[in-house]
Order: sequence, then C-alpha cells, then structure tokens
Amino acid sequence: MHEPEAVLDDAVLDLSGESAGERDTDSSSPFFVSKKAAAVFKHEILRQYVVPFASKVGRYAPDGRVVYVDGYAGPGRYEDGTPGSPALVLDSAARLADFRKLDCYFVERNRNSYRSLSALVADADEQGLAAHALNGRVEKHLDTILAAAHGSPLFAFLDPFGMGVSFDSLTQQVFGSRTQLGTTGAHATEVLLNFNANAVRRIGGLLKSTKEYPGKAATLRAMDATCGGDWWRQEFLDSADNAEAVDRITDGFASRVGAAVRASYWTIEVRNRADLQVAYHLVLFSRHRDGLWLFGEAASLAQKEWRRACVPPAREDMLFNPGDTFDDEEAERDAQWIATIRANIEGLLDKHGDFVVDHHLGKVLAGVLGLARGLHIRAAIKDLYKNGKTGCKGTGEVRQLHVTRPS
Ligand SMILES: C[S@@+](CC[C@H](N)C(=O)[O-])C[C@H]1O[C@@H](n2cnc3c(N)ncnc32)[C@H](O)[C@@H]1O
Repeated sequence: MHEPEAVLDDAVLDLSGESAGERDTDSSSPFFVSKKAAAVFKHEILRQYVVPFASKVGRYAPDGRVVYVDGYAGPGRYEDGTPGSPALVLDSAARLADFRKLDCYFVERNRNSYRSLSALVADADEQGLAAHALNGRVEKHLDTILAAAHGSPLFAFLDPFGMGVSFDSLTQQVFGSRTQLGTTGAHATEVLLNFNANAVRRIGGLLKSTKEYPGKAATLRAMDATCGGDWWRQEFLDSADNAEAVDRITDGFASRVGAAVRASYWTIEVRNRADLQVAYHLVLFSRHRDGLWLFGEAASLAQKEWRRACVPPAREDMLFNPGDTFDDEEAERDAQWIATIRANIEGLLDKHGDFVVDHHLGKVLAGVLGLARGLHIRAAIKDLYKNGKTGCKGTGEVRQLHVTRPS
C-alpha cells in the first residue's frame, strides 16, 4: 500500500455533501447558519482521525510537534455554535496537549469569517494551544506555513467550495516541500481534500455547450490547473453521464497526484442523501500504510454518524419514531459485513493457506471497504474459530492476526 499502484482501494460510501458552488460564502451566509447532515461526514473524519494521526506520527517528531493546516477554514463555528472544522481540530489539539503539540494554521479568505475564526483562535491561545488564524487566499500563505512546518509531520485539510489549490501546488509545493525519502516521523505528510463533484459537473458542462460565456475559457483552464492537465476534458466527453464523469475524473485526479508524490489514497463518495448524486469526494493522500488503515477506521466510524444524522426527526403524526430502529438497523449492517468478511477469509484460506490479515487487507475487506473496520474483522475471525474453521482465536492486534487453517 506504500506505492501508488498498490492503492488500498476506492471506498464507496453513501454519504452526504455540500453544494454551495464556488461563490464566496461568509459566516453570515446560510451555509454557516447551522450544520447540515452534509457536513457530518467530513467533520466526523476529522474528529476521529486527527488524534490518532498526531499521536502516531508525532512520536518521533521534535517536541512531539505536528502541524495541521486548514486551508479553507471558514468561521470556525456555525452560527448556532456547532463546531466547524477549526473548532473540531482545536478540540483535538486540547485532547492531545499532554503528549503532542498540534500546531494549527487556519487560513480564511473572507473577512467576516476570518473575524469569527480569529476570536476562536484567540480563545485557544488563552488555553495554551498553538493556533494561528491567517487572512487571505491559502495560495498566498502556503509557503510560509510549509516553512514553519519544516521538521515536523504535516496534515493538511483542503475544503474549498469549488476547486482548490492547483495540481502543481499540491504535488510540488505541498508534497514537494517535504523530503521524498521519509514517510514517517518528522517527514510524515498527509493531505485530506474535498474534490467537488458539483464543480466537475458544472465546469464539464461547459465543454458540451456551444454558447460562449464570459470567463468560459478561464474556467476551463482553472479546472486544467486543478487536475494537472486537460486530460479530464476527454474523460468528461467520453462518459455516458455525469455520474460516470465524476467517478472517472476523481479517480484520474487521485491516481495522478498519487503517482506524482508516491502516495496511496482513499476516495470516498459523499452524498447529501443516499438517493442523491455525489456532492463531493473526500480524498486522502498518505505515504504510510498505518495512515491508510487509521483512515479506514475513521471512515467507518464517521459514516455511522452520518447515517445517524440522516434519520428523519420524529413528527407528531408519525406512528413511530424513526430513530427507534437505528440501533437494530446498525446491528443488521454489522452482521452482514461480518458475514462478508468471513466469506472473504474462507476464500483466502482456501487460496493461500495461512495468512496474516495485514498482507491481504484489501481482500479481507472486499465488498465492505470503507464500511467495516477492525472490530468487524475480529468478529469474523472469532466466529470462524468458534465454528472450527480457523485455528486463530482472534485476539491481539487485528492487522497482525495470523489466520491459520484449523489444526
Ligand atoms: C467549505 S467552506 C469551509 C468549511 C470549513 N472547512 C468547515 O468544515 O467548517 C470554504 C471556505 O473557504 C473560504 N475560501 C474560498 N477560497 C479561499 C482561498 N483561496 N483561500 C482561503 N480560503 C478560501 C471560503 O470563504 C469559505 O469560508
């Protein structure tokens, strides 16, 4: 999984997303009034992932310092007080404070949002956390932040409304500023970005339109810059529909970045509701197998929270509360995933004989990648042991379990 060609896999999750387009949106816009189910997944990922990431990569970092960059930070909190990505990450920084220093850089272009963000950062500063709010375009601040990150592990979250930093900036400036030799400790570098499907559909649509709009050529060129060339145009035109175009272009983008920076990646579909079109993909680039594993764990937990957020609120005219069946439905899902993993493991035992889970993770999780996590693998192995189908009891670090044929 270290090499781009050995990508963990694409996880296909029915999750929610946002579709605010590319307009400049500030803290007083409806987008930031209250958190929609749309934002639950990405926020839950941050909540679940930043602490284990910083704990792990900061172990060998000077002073336990890990740098976090939020390039499109927003106001920090929604108007109703719900945490946005900056407030969530500052909470993680506080949880880490006894053993890691999470040095947070938040960049926001819009003045009103920046004002709210600054107030949040000032509070964090008073608590003794390391946090900086920067006003302006992320492109303007990136070099300074990357220089400050020198010698420390780095996690960057890039969450624009439309297209974000250019392909060259991502590959040469962000990853290029980090040593190519190291993948761990002070050199660890990960980027989580929002690749906006609405922007792909909208900008791709221009290719099929015969009308001339002001700015049309510039918009297409901006998309070229994001994607690292105009290859995406043919992908769009060759696709049967917009859904296929979004898939092909997201995969093309992720695999090109992965190859350029020698990183593996996850891409996760994010929808507003299971029956709606994809709003965006969350894409994680990591050069380390442990990072990919931890991200899969976080993705599994995060999507459970998204499903919970999607349960419609009870109404007086309803005979039952839709929330009442949530736990039963989750238990049913768990059982299905465990059955899938059990069958996968039996197939692997037939084909390879004894094996270590970590050497065949993609195949162990085939069909449930991004949905299930370590505890489901363990449950499947324990179940097989109980039924005399393996000699492995399923105890110990799950990735290192040695699954053997029954003796
Ligand atoms: C999707 S919102 C961010 C939401 C935030 N990450 C969260 O989860 O709470 C995108 C933000 O990026 C800001 N923005 C747009 N272009 C920017 C740029 N070039 N540099 C920095 N911020 C930018 C917008 O003003 C907006 O507040």
